[in-house]
Amino acid sequence: MKGIILAGGAGSRLFPLTLVASKQLQPVYDKPMVYYPLTTLIESGIREFCLISTPHDLPRFRQLFGDGSHWGLAIEYREQPRPEGIAQAFLIAESFIGRDSVTLILGDNVFYGGDGFSQAFSEFKGGATIFGYHVNDPERYGVVEFDAQGRAISIEEKPKTPRSNYAVPGLYLYDNHVVEIAKNLKPSARGELEITAVNVEYLNRGQLRVHRLNRGFAWLDAGTSSSLHEASAYVQTIEKRQGIKIGCPEEAAFHSGFLSLHELESLTAKIPKCEYRDYLGALVAETKRLKP
Ligand code: TTP
Repeated sequence: MKGIILAGGAGSRLFPLTLVASKQLQPVYDKPMVYYPLTTLIESGIREFCLISTPHDLPRFRQLFGDGSHWGLAIEYREQPRPEGIAQAFLIAESFIGRDSVTLILGDNVFYGGDGFSQAFSEFKGGATIFGYHVNDPERYGVVEFDAQGRAISIEEKPKTPRSNYAVPGLYLYDNHVVEIAKNLKPSARGELEITAVNVEYLNRGQLRVHRLNRGFAWLDAGTSSSLHEASAYVQTIEKRQGIKIGCPEEAAFHSGFLSLHELESLTAKIPKCEYRDYLGALVAETKRLKP
């Protein structure tokens, strides 16, 4: 399965922060926001990525990640000239997707906790898999309604009167039909190719699975100044208390087997002296202690 990180958009709710750097490059505590969704996909075993952003911001992402080979990844880049909808990503990345299945994650979605996604990735065989997460303000999102057996029966984009409190987070898994489905979409009233329309199409075909994420799981949205601040505070609290890092691509690549211990050690040595380097150094030392 291939991975798309969608990191375009206007970021207007974060003005003036986004005048010079896009939303997904803003810090969430101790790393750029885009590290978190990238890490989520690496933890799920994804190794080939296409990062989509605006023509203005794409050079910054290239600067940040290069071709990804230093982390054992392959990262390509594509431009989205205008924010014409999340589902447009499948058209922009068509040649990257080729004949594969694909997962798309939004560059401003921060997830943490348990193994909420690993089961969905390992069980994925076809159709579409999305997630449902209980929130206080479902009207801001795509909202999924379940029947008494827990099957999804409707999905609506930003409904005025939501039929449930289950919002659809920005992580989606699709088989290769998603490209053809995206090609047949018409822009919505707000002029976007809607990801919800893709999910509704899979629902109508009887090929949509919706995993409900349990209450121990955190899905943070960092799209406004206060939610960005809250996301930073959350990450800081967990990292300080547990002595671990959330959203550390090097660590995830090592655990997924994309980097050897030797490679992790040598890339750690190239990082300037800082807390991040100390963290990776401790990971290397602990691994050596356990498996001398
Ligand atoms: P939004 O938060 O809906 O939009 P935005 O990032 O442009 O922010 P604002 O509303 O403050 O102007 O987008 C959700 C995510 O999807 C965000 O990471 C940007 C991304 N996105 C794209 O990259 N391209 C698109 O066409 C759209 C609609 C969203």
